[in-house]
Amino acid sequence: MPPSLTQFGTQMSKLTGVRAIMKDIIDTLGTTQGQSFINLSAGNPVILEPIAQLWRDCTADLLSSPDYSEVVCRYGTSQGYQPLIEAIIQEFNQRYNLHLNARQILITPGSQALYFLAANAFGGYTTEEKLKKVVLPLSPDYTGYGGVSLTPASLLAYKPRIDLQDRKHRFKYRPDFDQLCFDSQTGCVIFSRPCNPTGNVLTDAEVRQIVNLAQPLNIPVFIDSAYGPPFPGLNYTEYQPVFAPNVIHCMSLSKAGLPGERVGIAIGDQAIIQALEAFQTNVCIHSGRYGQAIATRAIKSGALAQLSTTVIRPYYQAKLNILETALEQYFPDNIPWFLHVGEGAIFGWLWFQNLPISDWDLYQKLKAAGVLVVPGSPFFPGLQQDWQHIHECIRISLTATDAEIEEGIKTIAAILPKVYSSKESAKDR
Ligand SMILES: Cc1ncc(COP(=O)(O)O)c(C=O)c1O
Repeated sequence: MPPSLTQFGTQMSKLTGVRAIMKDIIDTLGTTQGQSFINLSAGNPVILEPIAQLWRDCTADLLSSPDYSEVVCRYGTSQGYQPLIEAIIQEFNQRYNLHLNARQILITPGSQALYFLAANAFGGYTTEEKLKKVVLPLSPDYTGYGGVSLTPASLLAYKPRIDLQDRKHRFKYRPDFDQLCFDSQTGCVIFSRPCNPTGNVLTDAEVRQIVNLAQPLNIPVFIDSAYGPPFPGLNYTEYQPVFAPNVIHCMSLSKAGLPGERVGIAIGDQAIIQALEAFQTNVCIHSGRYGQAIATRAIKSGALAQLSTTVIRPYYQAKLNILETALEQYFPDNIPWFLHVGEGAIFGWLWFQNLPISDWDLYQKLKAAGVLVVPGSPFFPGLQQDWQHIHECIRISLTATDAEIEEGIKTIAAILPKVYSSKESAKDR
């Protein structure tokens, strides 16, 4: 008998966005016998040996240290493991010339949990029954934001401007400041920089403009730096994180080789951090301390920041080059395909202008041809307008091997002319 769930229960027990597609992909991989697939859909980072070795070394150090039993055999504070908090303060104060104190840091069990806390502490109904919005200033963005709110009506995303680049077949999304509007109904703002799925890095000026629009209204801006510097440093364009009184700088160690340990980091205003910390205490008491203890060692020694720029970044940047070369070589020039400029993260984002079928149908066709990608539409959570562009994109993961990326692109290239010459457009929309 199915369990009798509440409104929240029903909503939170549904798979949203890419998680639903991942289930289809896992089912496909598990049930299709005799057919092999090129998997360009994976979001799981590649295990890079020097990074895995760093975590092994930090674990060995923890195991042999007198701290071990204190770390794993006792509860800690909800805010996080104090030596990790100190290591982060030292790293950020030194690197970015800040004056952070310990009350400005919160460690969460992964950064997804942090966005859950943020979206529900600042978005949803107020005690006066007013709906506060969680604003995503530039859609598409991380699909996970679509599932974090207990009040889905609070999510509001803005359609971007599309900048075609001088380089043929390249484009970049930009926030549309003519539309973007914050007011007393805005609870908080969230965006990823670098962006999953597009690889976009909002410019410093764009970020400052968003932050400055929010500041007079006392609206917190959560800048999701899951791919940003100093770790994992998956930015291919140089930039500095933006710090301001209303900015909560959010980080994750997942793309720095530690997704299994669930370590998220929030840095920002003390009062906001305190509210999130209390929320976290109610939800899960605190983040696991083993991951926090090995992270302390990796950050304090400088090894994590260093390996981010010498190992993690070059690895994915080389994959991006493989993807770009394959696209130039195999994709038909006469088809209006566009790659989002690759400024960071671990994905390539492709837009097929005037695609005659939906992104979901394209996904199915590619699947039938043995290539798994992620259809783009789940990356537009909170966008309330109907917009054909939503159904014209796919995400390609840079976690595949060079040969798989090349072979996958070759297969997609062979299918595109057939898709564009098809007459399916009307019925698929
Ligand atoms: C942009 C972005 N933010 C947040 C997350 C969540 O990461 P985690 O909860 O592992 O820190 C991800 C995961 O892929 C992501 O891509």
